[in-house]
Amino acid sequence: MTARGASRVVVAAPERALETHRCRWRELAAVYRVHRACFPYPYPFWRFVGYQLSPVSCIRVATVPGGIIGYVVATVTEHVTGRRGEIISLAVLEPWRRRRVATRLLREAAAFLRRVCSADVYLQVAVDNAAAQELYDSLGFRKVERLIGYYLGGEDAWLMCRSVERARRP
Ligand SMILES: CC(C)(COP(=O)(O)OP(=O)(O)OC[C@H]1O[C@@H](n2cnc3c(N)ncnc32)[C@H](O)[C@@H]1OP(=O)(O)O)[C@@H](O)C(=O)NCCC(=O)NCCS
Repeated sequence: MTARGASRVVVAAPERALETHRCRWRELAAVYRVHRACFPYPYPFWRFVGYQLSPVSCIRVATVPGGIIGYVVATVTEHVTGRRGEIISLAVLEPWRRRRVATRLLREAAAFLRRVCSADVYLQVAVDNAAAQELYDSLGFRKVERLIGYYLGGEDAWLMCRSVERARRP
């Protein structure tokens, strides 16, 4: 995922009105609109439907009275080395950034992953996405591998990981 600026403003609501919860089916289309607004190569909608259906996946949303302003998708995947938690997608609409919304969503996603599979958590982030890298770094993720040509546009990604042991620390 390579970040780009979100093009729409949902609403200018006070921060105290911000709330997070597990995505409801009727909210999925709005989640996808946020996704499309924030990424140049969006996933197809059916992937979000799949994560919403899966018992080992979770979509959490951040809302204000005007609608959804951010989301995170987390899941568990099988690898030759075993199961791992993965953050699949994360975005916050531009007017709501730098207010710890993503931090809150990521912490909640990590709590979900700990409940369904106590394993290391991985994610991919574009090498030129400094904002997201700062965020993940601040939450204890570390770069483990550069994935050459990972994105549709040919950009490289960093594979980042937060170990279970690290995640257990406060
Ligand atoms: C990356 C993104 C999710 C961050 O959301 P956010 O709600 O603004 O993040 P937070 O407010 O929780 O940020 C927490 C910390 O992350 C770092 N950070 C976040 N955005 C940053 C930026 N633009 N520049 C530098 N550091 C940044 C800071 O350390 C920040 O703490 P601080 O504000 O006290 O300095 C948001 O910018 C976004 O949606 N970008 C487009 C989509 C995207 O890139 N998603 C991630 C793909 S892997």
